[in-house]
Amino acid sequence: MSRLLKALSDRAHEEDVSFRTRMLELAATLPDVIALGRGDPDFHTPAHIVDAAKKAIDANEHHYTHPAGLPKLREAISASLKGEYGLDYASDEIIVTAGTQEAVMLCMLALIEKGDEVLLPAPRFTSYDTAVTMCGGVVVEVPTREDDDYALVPAEVEAQITPRTKVLVLITPNNPTGAVTPPDMVREIARIAIARDIIVMSDEIYAKIIFDGSEHLSIATLPGMRDRTITLNGFSKSYAMTGWRVGYVAAPRDVVRRLVEPRHTLSINAATPSQFAALAALTGPQEPVDAMVKAYAERRTFMMQALDRLGFTYGHPGGAFYVYTNVSASGRSAPDFCEMLLREARVLVFPGTMFADPEGKHIRISLLQPLARMEEAVRRIEAVKDRLFVG
Ligand SMILES: Cc1ncc(COP(=O)(O)O)c(C=O)c1O
Repeated sequence: MSRLLKALSDRAHEEDVSFRTRMLELAATLPDVIALGRGDPDFHTPAHIVDAAKKAIDANEHHYTHPAGLPKLREAISASLKGEYGLDYASDEIIVTAGTQEAVMLCMLALIEKGDEVLLPAPRFTSYDTAVTMCGGVVVEVPTREDDDYALVPAEVEAQITPRTKVLVLITPNNPTGAVTPPDMVREIARIAIARDIIVMSDEIYAKIIFDGSEHLSIATLPGMRDRTITLNGFSKSYAMTGWRVGYVAAPRDVVRRLVEPRHTLSINAATPSQFAALAALTGPQEPVDAMVKAYAERRTFMMQALDRLGFTYGHPGGAFYVYTNVSASGRSAPDFCEMLLREARVLVFPGTMFADPEGKHIRISLLQPLARMEEAVRRIEAVKDRLFVG
């Protein structure tokens, strides 16, 4: 073992030999793969947002900004949080980050001491696990189930609380399940957080992508919650801006003041032209967002009908752009099913095992291809069904 390799800390213990990498490498060797794997919208960033970044670059807006972000962007975020979700955060209660991902790390760095327990839903976006363990914290899972459409059930949260529980991460709508935790349950979770003195990190990155019949409630709007909640959000999903890397944290002023220095240490500021793009996203026309949400809704309906035909069950996704489905009817484990699907039908999806689901029965289908391509994916699956289904 090299000197350098031996010198690595425990934080760098995770070598990337993941199933995801293996699948992406296999996909790269195959022709005409239909990618329903990653959480990256097929839509391009709306043109007026791109233009705003170009204009900013031409106007020499390519220097550092304040580490908390451009004042105008923070004002626009403050107004948007109020208008969209009824959240009360002044512009100096917001820190712009390099994607919501950096916001996650920033919050964990700021909150977690060695041995602190963090409640995370299962299944979930597992970057949370890495952030928690890098900070010396301990992940404690709160199971969510298909029968509840994968909502975060308050009694399940309560059952996992111990004297060491410090933070609950509430992600609604959630990834990989698309689950929207209904307002009544959010209210009950708030009651538990107050009664058991728990901090809530509320990840609302998918909150603009909500389908008919579901309702998003921001937990920090509830009585007694603003003071114990950090709200996280970003531009990647709702504005199709994954590569621009802009997200943010909103929290009470005295907390935000303490976050600025660690935020500066991570990346100084989110890329300046990207911040101008984010400003245009919030202050410009919202029709492109509405059009994307409408497209996701159509694709969702189509995919649920196709899954019904295949005999695969799922939790009804109330938001985001995923369907999390049980492929047990195929007779294969989820990782095996995904690999066969890629080899036989050239359709790329990811198994739930990549999202901390121990069962190995589920896959996540991203609704991130045009409807015609999704129809083609389903045709291909149906065409190889005899080989795909065993037993
Ligand atoms: C729940 C959740 N939070 C945060 C992120 C990170 O998003 P970004 O850093 O692109 O804003 C993702 C990305 O998939 C996500 O699904």
